[in-house]
Amino acid sequence: MGKSNFSGKVALVTGGNRGIGKSIALYLAERGADVFITARDKDKIEETVKELQKFNDRCNGRSCDVRSHKEQIEIFKKIKKDYGRLDICIPNAGAATLAKATETSLKQWSRDIDTNLTGLFITATEAMKIMKEQGSGNIIGIVSKAGKKAFLLRAAYCASKWGALGFLKSLAIEGKGCNVKVTAICPASVATDFQKGNPAGMDWMMSPDEVSRAVGYILNMEDNAYLDEIVLSTWTRKKR
Ligand SMILES: NC(=O)c1ccc[n+]([C@@H]2O[C@H](COP(=O)([O-])OP(=O)(O)OC[C@H]3O[C@@H](n4cnc5c(N)ncnc54)[C@H](OP(=O)(O)O)[C@@H]3O)[C@@H](O)[C@H]2O)c1
Repeated sequence: MGKSNFSGKVALVTGGNRGIGKSIALYLAERGADVFITARDKDKIEETVKELQKFNDRCNGRSCDVRSHKEQIEIFKKIKKDYGRLDICIPNAGAATLAKATETSLKQWSRDIDTNLTGLFITATEAMKIMKEQGSGNIIGIVSKAGKKAFLLRAAYCASKWGALGFLKSLAIEGKGCNVKVTAICPASVATDFQKGNPAGMDWMMSPDEVSRAVGYILNMEDNAYLDEIVLSTWTRKKR
């Protein structure tokens, strides 16, 4: 497939300063989109914005904790003021506790739920309000296989991601009434900082660019077609 042209499209990627979010931001900027990234680490945002601007000088970013309603509202105000529209929204920022249910502290539980579920709720809902008015747009939430399957040591994370998937599916029904396509991508293990320290190593995991290609596939679908969910699994080649 040739490089698609997203010029004139405005995209927001949360958690866009590293990992999957950065890969998606670069993918979109390289194809012409005006990409705005958010995350908490200002230095990493600055570094990434410089890389994005090599493709398109209208790319920008700002720090924002997705758990803060106030900070997220400021970002949406800025996007409306600077770009006047929003075509693509990728709620991607996420965090994960590694613990069994009975060993999960309330602090860990709240961190996962506030980031992965409430944070995504705020991002996707504010994006939907703008897109509803436009009568067009794509919201693509980065969920996880942990949003469809249970894992012993990911109790809080699973709860947040199952919630996120349920929420996105409800939002998708609302989107059908106003021409906004809402999709969830549920990847298995992806080689990013998120997986650092995994006792099985990272060699067998997919790269974040695979998730970007899935985003590209969704955005390049014809008007008469729609995907509500993509599940991306890892693949282990069998020795013959
Ligand atoms: N890697 C995997 O195996 C995997 C598999 C399935 C799904 N996912 C999901 O994919 C998404 C991205 O993960 P990743 O693998 O790219 O992880 P990562 O490399 O650890 O990146 C996480 C991103 O989220 C941002 N973030 C974390 N907490 C935040 C907060 N409170 N407010 C704003 N930004 C925040 C981080 O930036 P700052 O730290 O600067 O804020 C960073 O940009 C997550 O939703 C994750 O659950 C990952």
